[in-house]
This record gives sequence, C-alpha cells and structure tokens, in this order.
Amino acid sequence: MSYSFYLILHLLGIALVLFSLGGLALHAINGGTRETNKARGLVAATHGVGLLLIFVAGFGMLPKIGVSLGKAAWVHPKILIWLVLAAGMTILYRKPSSARAMWVVIPLLVLAAAYLAIDKPFGAAGTAP
Ligand code: HEM
Repeated sequence: MSYSFYLILHLLGIALVLFSLGGLALHAINGGTRETNKARGLVAATHGVGLLLIFVAGFGMLPKIGVSLGKAAWVHPKILIWLVLAAGMTILYRKPSSARAMWVVIPLLVLAAAYLAIDKPFGAAGTAP
C-alpha cells in the first residue's frame, strides 16, 4: 500500500470522526440523549470506522516516511488526541452539557494534530515520498 493511499484513508477517517462527533454534539445541544438518537447505530459505526482508519492509516504511513514510533516523538501527542476523539462519543452521551465546549475543543485538537504531522516540531521528521 502506498503512502498516498494511507494518507487519503487517514483524511477520510478524520472526516468520518468529525462528521459523527459534530452531528452528535448538535444532537446533545438540542437536548437529545442516547435514547432519542434515531441514528445511534449510524453515528457509532461512522465514529468507529473513522477511528480505525485514522489509526491504521496513521501507523501505515510511518514506515513509508522512514520513521519508527520510538523516534517520531511528534506522533505521541497525536495518539493522545486520537484517544480523546475516541472518548468523544461517550463524553457527549454521558455529559451533554459538554457539547458546546466540545464544539470548540475538537477542531482545536484537529488543528494540533495537523500541526504535529505537518511541522513535526520535535522528534524524527522522516521524508514524505
Ligand atoms: C493514531 C494516531 C495517529 C498517527 C499514528 C498519525 C500519523 C500520521 C502520519 C505518519 C502522517 C504523515 C506525516 C507526513 O506525511 O510526513 C500524518 C498526517 C496527518 N495527520 Fe495523523 N496520525 C494520527 C492521528 C491523527 C489525528 C487524530 C488527526 C486529526 C484528527 C490527524 C491529522 C493528520 C493530518 C491533518 C495530517 C496531514 C495530512 C497531510 O499531509 O496533508 N492525525 N499522521
């Protein structure tokens, strides 16, 4: 599998996760709950597939740019961001009052993840093909 194939899957995964969390945040702001969510399965599947794509494609790209997880320290906070996005669905269902904060925090996490990958402020940079 090529670097560009993984990169496209990585970006698709990000789109799916943001789409599902955005929809769920709006649902929560409008007073919706887990029980009243008519698209519960769809949201969960979109979120799950997106997270899997981000993870698999992210780790797929590392050898393609010639770095290992141990050396690419900029990936470590990205894994943490991934974990927060993974928890996002449960947080929104359990604490719907957090939805407005999430509306701001989630895009900022994406900004941070993009900055870490593109600028690689620390750790081995490797070379994108
Ligand atoms: C398991 C966690 C993750 C890993 C292992 C990972 C790994 C990577 C790698 C290796 C690259 C390519 C860097 C390069 O081309 O030099 C990349 C790019 C990128 N990642 Fe991640 N990533 C992860 C999570 C995330 C998350 C959660 C987001 C945002 C929600 C994200 C957003 C991006 C963006 C925007 C790019 C730049 C794409 C481009 O070059 O146009 N990543 N990531």
